[in-house]
Parts: sequence; C-alpha cells; structure tokens
Amino acid sequence: MPKRELRSVTGAEQVGPYTLLRVERDGLDPGEPGQFFMLEAPGRLLPRPMSVCLAPPGELAFLIDPIGPGTRALCSLEAGDRIGLLGPLGNGFRLDVERPLLVGGGIGVAPFPYLSEQLSSPPAVLGFRSAWHAEAAVLVPNAEVVLEPTYVTEAMPAGHDVLACGPEPMLEAVRRLGPHAQLAWEAPMACGYGACYGCAVEIDGELKRLCVEGPILAAA
Ligand SMILES: Cc1cc2nc3c(=O)[nH]c(=O)nc-3n(C[C@H](O)[C@H](O)[C@H](O)COP(=O)(O)OP(=O)(O)OC[C@H]3O[C@@H](n4cnc5c(N)ncnc54)[C@H](O)[C@@H]3O)c2cc1C
Ligand code: FES
Repeated sequence: MPKRELRSVTGAEQVGPYTLLRVERDGLDPGEPGQFFMLEAPGRLLPRPMSVCLAPPGELAFLIDPIGPGTRALCSLEAGDRIGLLGPLGNGFRLDVERPLLVGGGIGVAPFPYLSEQLSSPPAVLGFRSAWHAEAAVLVPNAEVVLEPTYVTEAMPAGHDVLACGPEPMLEAVRRLGPHAQLAWEAPMACGYGACYGCAVEIDGELKRLCVEGPILAAA
C-alpha cells in the first residue's frame, strides 16, 4: 500500500484547454503507463485520480482537464506549491503487444505520452471535439488526429493491438470493434486503493473495484 507523499509543483503549462502539471519526483515510483495517482490540492478535502502522463527523470507530469472544483484547484497550482500524492495505483496497460495502436479521445490522451514512450512511439489515433482540444496531440508522437464529427473508430486501421482511453461511448465503440483491446475505464474514486467501494462497477454480473481491478480492463 503506497503512502501519501508531499511534493512541490515544478511548473504548470497550458496545452489547449488542459493543464500539464509537473511535480518533483524525488524518489516516487511512476509505475506502469495507465496507472494513476490520487492528487490532493491544498485546501481540498478529497483527492482526485489522475493518470501519469509523463515520467521524465526527476519529475511526474499529469494532464488535467478542469471540469469541476477538484480539477480546477489542481490546475491553479503554481511552481513551489505543495501537493499530496498517493500512488502509483491500479493496474497499467499490458505492454507485451505485437502491433500496438493507441486510441484516445479528449482528456483520454492523458496516459499516452508515457505509454507511447514505453512502446517506442507506436501509431496513435486521437479524437477531439475541437482544434483547441487537439493541441494535446502534440504530446503524443506519431498521432493521427480526427475532429468531431469524425470519430476515432472511423480512422482506426485494422490488425492492431488496441490500447484505448477516452469517454465511455468511445470505449464501447472500440470494444465492439476489437474484443482483444485494452480499455482504460473511469469512475469517481474516493480512496483509490480498494477501501471505499465508491468506484465499484458491475462487469458481467460481478462488482469490480475499478481502482484495484482496473482502470485497465480487457474488452472481452
Ligand atoms: C483512473 C482515473 C484516471 C484519471 N485520469 C485523469 C487524467 O489524467 N486527467 C484528467 O483530467 N482526469 C482524469 N480522470 C478524471 C478525473 O479524476 C475527474 O475528472 C475528477 O475527479 C473530477 O473532479 P472535480 O472535482 O474537478 O469534478 P467533480 O465535481 O467531481 O465532477 C464533475 C463532473 O464529472 C463527473 N465525474 C467526476 N469524476 C468522474 C470520473 N472519474 N468518471 C466519470 N465522471 C466523473 C461528475 O459526476 C460530475 O458530473 C481520471 C479518472 C480516473 C478514475
Ligand atoms: S476508490 Fe475506493 S474502492 Fe475504489
């Protein structure tokens, strides 16, 4: 069980509507791509789950979409601010794939820069709702970008091992196309390590805690 750590923010950059929050690593294990940390902004009661976006030497970076109070508090942090981190948590993507293809939508691209690095820059198909949101594609090498109303599933080449992260309707569509895909799911999470059952989802009639048995699940 990882313990909560306090670290300093080293910087925060705008990438389209998102914020790339950089935090000093100072001994923290970044985990596998697809794993996440619970991030706690000062003055906020509950931490928020965030995927590891980048893990350069000495740093961890998280790409954050400011959609509510918790994420807005994280996006307003500045260099020198202190932040609580718990992780790495959950499971990561399986990396033993022969022909990887990263498929992502919107803020679902967050784990891909680290994943792409670990898989030696495989092809990626990324979908966004606007050119502004698509600025995040600059973080993912070798990416083809599609904008709505085109969907990523229309641009996915066949014959690949798909690793996908994005909104639920996108994941459902990817799942229908490829039963062997690895899909990163989301649920609201309070603890992040299996204690509260707040993230439990029913899969094939069984309750699974997404923070322990996920967030990456096999499509089948
Ligand atoms: C494993 C995991 C990894 C994640 N990685 C990232 C990441 O890298 N970058 C990023 O920006 N976000 C990520 N998220 C989503 C992020 O944690 C939520 O957007 C955040 O917790 C919302 O908090 P808030 O206080 O800003 O908004 P809230 O007020 O809590 O929520 C705003 C709205 O979003 C809904 N919502 C909140 N959390 C979730 C959720 N997890 N799933 C579905 N709907 C939700 C709420 O019902 C509400 O309608 C991840 C979530 C999980 C589970
Ligand atoms: S978030 Fe508490 S059990 Fe998953």
